[in-house]
Amino acid sequence: MADTKKLYIKTYGCQMNVYDSERMAEAMGGAGYEATDTPGDADMILLNTCHIREKAAEKVYSELGRLKGFKADNPDLKIGVAGCVAQAEGEEIMRRQPAVDLVVGPQSYHRLPEMEAKIQQGEKALDTDFPEEDKFEKLKSRPKAKRGPTAFLTVQEGCDKFCAFCVVPYTRGAEVSRPVDRILTEARDLVERGVREITLLGQNVNAYHGHGSDGDWSLAKLIWELDKVDGLERIRFTTSHPNDMMDDLIEAHGTCSKLMPYLHLPVQSGSDKILKRMNRSHDRDSYLRLVERIRAARPDILLSGDFIVGFPEETEADFQDTMNLIEEVKYGQAFSFKYSSRPGTPAAERALVDDGEATDRLHRLQGLITHQQREIQDSMVGRDVSVLFEKPGRFEGQMMGKSEYLHAVHVMETDAVIGDLRRVRIVESRTNSLAGVMIPD
Ligand code: 5AD
Ligand code: SF4
Repeated sequence: MADTKKLYIKTYGCQMNVYDSERMAEAMGGAGYEATDTPGDADMILLNTCHIREKAAEKVYSELGRLKGFKADNPDLKIGVAGCVAQAEGEEIMRRQPAVDLVVGPQSYHRLPEMEAKIQQGEKALDTDFPEEDKFEKLKSRPKAKRGPTAFLTVQEGCDKFCAFCVVPYTRGAEVSRPVDRILTEARDLVERGVREITLLGQNVNAYHGHGSDGDWSLAKLIWELDKVDGLERIRFTTSHPNDMMDDLIEAHGTCSKLMPYLHLPVQSGSDKILKRMNRSHDRDSYLRLVERIRAARPDILLSGDFIVGFPEETEADFQDTMNLIEEVKYGQAFSFKYSSRPGTPAAERALVDDGEATDRLHRLQGLITHQQREIQDSMVGRDVSVLFEKPGRFEGQMMGKSEYLHAVHVMETDAVIGDLRRVRIVESRTNSLAGVMIPD
């Protein structure tokens, strides 16, 4: 048998890319590759890329420029580009950076082993199809290696919403939900390997409508089925669109004890004019009413959001509408971005807001969010939470994990080990984490 080769994967962007990178590593395992953390040792380097904003896409080209140097030291090294930049730019990548041997889109990575065989013959390989076959079906079942206590599991991919700024409907394609039985099999397998918390992933995860034993299932129905899996203690899901927050899902937040009290619910803007121009298909008021209903079902839920500032035609008054929506909702966490014009999207044709103005709005918005996050974090002091321990802390005897609200929690002098789910009393709020002490069982 040939020697095992080494594969180094660098992942950019969202959690779905993290999941995809794991699956690509597994697919390449079947082709004789094992993972390495050191690019200098690798026989093949794969960049799993993100196209959501211009900066993310440009990072890939500067990294490729750097990697070209590795080829000078090791002429047999193969370089591949996967993910959304691969999908969006295809052959252009090889033109811009001839050191690239392989380009594979997010729907085709089950074909990686064949593509690898082709590049070993000195050819280039390109696949950015949206094939008929399901990549998840074509991949071998996941290896049985032990895993950490948390895992991502993709249940839905693609998006039919076509927000005017967003490349996802083009790079990830139309909404597709994986069948229920496949997801349950994968979840049970993860649990057998030590996983206690699963985050269900989808670009529009709450639009999930996968085929089940008795017709199409909603995300809530899937969550209730996962609730029955012994050994699985926590369920999360991301990312949700406000329009797909169905009654059964809201209700599950109040009644399913394994479903964690955290919800990422992007609104993007608080101005009705901008929401319309963004083609968001919800308005400020419907979003605020939805938040009220979710909080009625689960009063302690921690909400998180995404915001874009400087979208074309956003005035100071529109921006103030976003700021006062944030004040009204009170987010425990948020991700905020300056609008980035993306080729091929409807908004790309429109006039940009002055860049200095957009940067100033971003800073003001981030200031408000940081303040809110800190207030919510500080309010945890004195409360008891459950912590799933994930890794040792920086200091001797310290362990680190996440609370049900996804706050990072450090505990000193604990006998807890990785994978334990234990009660902790919060004693201090720090910049980006909480400190706690164990509550005796
Ligand atoms: N410019 C800035 N931010 C964007 N996002 C998506 N597309 C763009 C863009 N063109 C943000 C949205 C989305 C998050 C994943 O990225 O807020 O929810
Ligand atoms: Fe992009 Fe909008 Fe779809 Fe989210 S809902 S992936 S922002 S098009």
